[in-house]
Amino acid sequence: MNTHLIIAPSLLAADFARLGEEVRDVEAAGADWIHLDVMDGHFVPNITFGPLVVKALRPHTKLPLDVHLMIAPADPYLDAFAEAGADHISIHPEAGPHLHRSLQRIRSLGKKAGVVLNPATPVESILWVLDLVDIIMVMTVNPGFGGQSFLASQLPKIAALRRAIDASGREIALQIDGGVTPDTAPALIAAGADTLVAGTAVFGRTDYATAIAAIRGAA
Ligand code: DX5
Ligand code: ZN
Repeated sequence: MNTHLIIAPSLLAADFARLGEEVRDVEAAGADWIHLDVMDGHFVPNITFGPLVVKALRPHTKLPLDVHLMIAPADPYLDAFAEAGADHISIHPEAGPHLHRSLQRIRSLGKKAGVVLNPATPVESILWVLDLVDIIMVMTVNPGFGGQSFLASQLPKIAALRRAIDASGREIALQIDGGVTPDTAPALIAAGADTLVAGTAVFGRTDYATAIAAIRGAA
């Protein structure tokens, strides 16, 4: 487990009219990764942006661009997000029929591959692809919107994934997305998370450095 907690501010809660500046500001404020939520209005009931925006943001930061695809199908777009400058590409198992093949494709593009588990998606869905994943992300809200309430029901799932990752001996980040705040961070860390996505808890505050430090301090 990483000793350094990774904080990935989610641009979903940023000012979309000033995205480049927002990315530069959170980098300066101590962010580790930039989390980008791609939504298609089909897999989730909201629409955000695609590879063009990822490409436009690439020159604004040296931090890893952590792309969370909430689109189905995802396979036809993996190459486009890789070419746009994504460093991590995370997909939901429900987004296509062949999770193993999709993860192989992301790896073959030279990117870190992630799998995202919705609140109802079981731990078992990823146990046979651990050799192909760099990131496992647990949704602690239903995907689609920022600012929703944290689902504490996911804490035992996070703990189970921690055990599975440790037993595998592989270097896999255990990332949490949804409702992360200084109040919820301690339970997430106790359950074994090492990477926290935070939208509202960072971009919803006026001072991003203080907001990021508050999550780190609480954890
Ligand atoms: C939700 C997104 C999240 C979202 C989290 O579908 O995947 O990344 O931005 O927002 P907060 O941190 O406000 O719950
Ligand atoms: Zn996300």
